[in-house]
Amino acid sequence: MARWKLPMHSLTHAKALILAAGKGTRMCSERPKVLHTLLGQPMLGYILDAVKSVFPTPPLVVAGHKAELVEAAFPDVEYIRQKEQVGTGHALQIALSQLEALAVSHVFVINGDAPLITSGLIRDFLHKAEDADIAFATAIMPDPGSYGRVVRNHGVLQAIIEAKDFDINAHGPASGEINAGLYYIALRSAAGLIRRLAPAHEGGEIYITDLISLGLEAGLAVRGIPMPSPDRLLGVNSPMELAQAEDHLAHAAVTRLLSEGVSIHAPAMARINPNVKIQPGAEIFGPCEIHGATTIAANAVVEAFCTINNSDIGAGARIKSFSHLEGAVVEAAAICGPYARLRPGAVVKKNAHVGNFVELKKTTLGEGSKANHLAYLGDAEIGPGVNIGAGAITCNYDGSNKYRTIIQSGAFIGSNAALVAPVDIGAGAMVGAGSVITHDVPENALAIGRQRQKNLARRKK
Ligand code: UD1
Ligand code: MG
Repeated sequence: MARWKLPMHSLTHAKALILAAGKGTRMCSERPKVLHTLLGQPMLGYILDAVKSVFPTPPLVVAGHKAELVEAAFPDVEYIRQKEQVGTGHALQIALSQLEALAVSHVFVINGDAPLITSGLIRDFLHKAEDADIAFATAIMPDPGSYGRVVRNHGVLQAIIEAKDFDINAHGPASGEINAGLYYIALRSAAGLIRRLAPAHEGGEIYITDLISLGLEAGLAVRGIPMPSPDRLLGVNSPMELAQAEDHLAHAAVTRLLSEGVSIHAPAMARINPNVKIQPGAEIFGPCEIHGATTIAANAVVEAFCTINNSDIGAGARIKSFSHLEGAVVEAAAICGPYARLRPGAVVKKNAHVGNFVELKKTTLGEGSKANHLAYLGDAEIGPGVNIGAGAITCNYDGSNKYRTIIQSGAFIGSNAALVAPVDIGAGAMVGAGSVITHDVPENALAIGRQRQKNLARRKK
């Protein structure tokens, strides 16, 4: 049969297919396996990142078990539903007509449970696979565990035999070479064989790996391509393997950051997602969890026991211990914590201070302003030079709707004040401690909304 050779520059004629429909039984979890997270990011996200940077068009993803959760987590790719998860070969079969309709010459297939894969490894594999009809990546694993075994006879490829079907007497001594779960298939040569894959295993499963022996029987060019970096080809099937993969990613991330000039204390305890951007000169103390699209500028300090997700921390800012930031912006030289809670939409402007047990949500705390103790500031626009006293709160919710509070520059909010929104506190105004403020306060006014103190004579005992 004619070889179908693909020049590497023409990846427009290849489509990536991610197999992500499996139940993930060995995870012992209700959640689809590919949504289990490593450093705060679902497993499938890592594979999508790597695949998207190699292929010019978005991948197809086969989803099945709790497909709606997978589709909601990653809405920007195209899905094919595998209603019954009867094996990796079946997952490929149900994608075949769509691949043919796209008129692509090749499909690159990758298991959705290989989160350590890199775009470099995928490129390397495709490059080495380009003259094959069917190629798959192999690795030497110290413990081949549940991986499919690559069987060769005097170096000549024979088959992939799944661990549970592997028999030393029939297949010879195990070489340690395993199937890594990456395939590159020329559809013109192999589409007929894909259709012929049939249930021949425990539970009636259809295995993609049977394509190897079928292809060899049909005289196709079938190659098992040994890859470097076996540790990057780890398949995650159990909580133990998930923990190993996460450790690997965490170690790689801190090693890179340290080499780039970021100071990390107790690096083994710093869990930093590889997508987090930290400038040289920043200082991070472990343990910590820093995830999502977070950025940390030079000379910023993150003290121990902080959790930071999707947040921006400006130059020279300091996040003190035990603070929790989610979707927040902390500008240059601002100080937060210890024990600060910044929720989505919190913006702490330059030189502002947020102290212990202070919560901000959809709130801007103006330049140089301070909320140092025990406050809740939600849906508020707070100008520069404002002081928020201990225990002050914005009452932003009436049980049905949320309302905004405006506190203008230089205002002083006394301790335990309750600002009932919508309300506007004018510039330079002062709110007396313990006040319940239900009306706007004019500029420079003193507002007191509480009962006047009476001092009465004590009763005789
Ligand atoms: C698979 C390979 C094995 C290889 C290993 C690499 C087969 C039969 N075996 O084994 O040779 O060494 O990966 O990690 O392919 N999936 C579907 N639909 C299904 C079943 C699975 O989409 O019906 C998806 C899963 O979600 C998963 C991937 O395919 O992302 C691999 O399935 P999994 O059950 O993890 O296969 P392994 O036993 O790890
Ligand atoms: Mg697997």
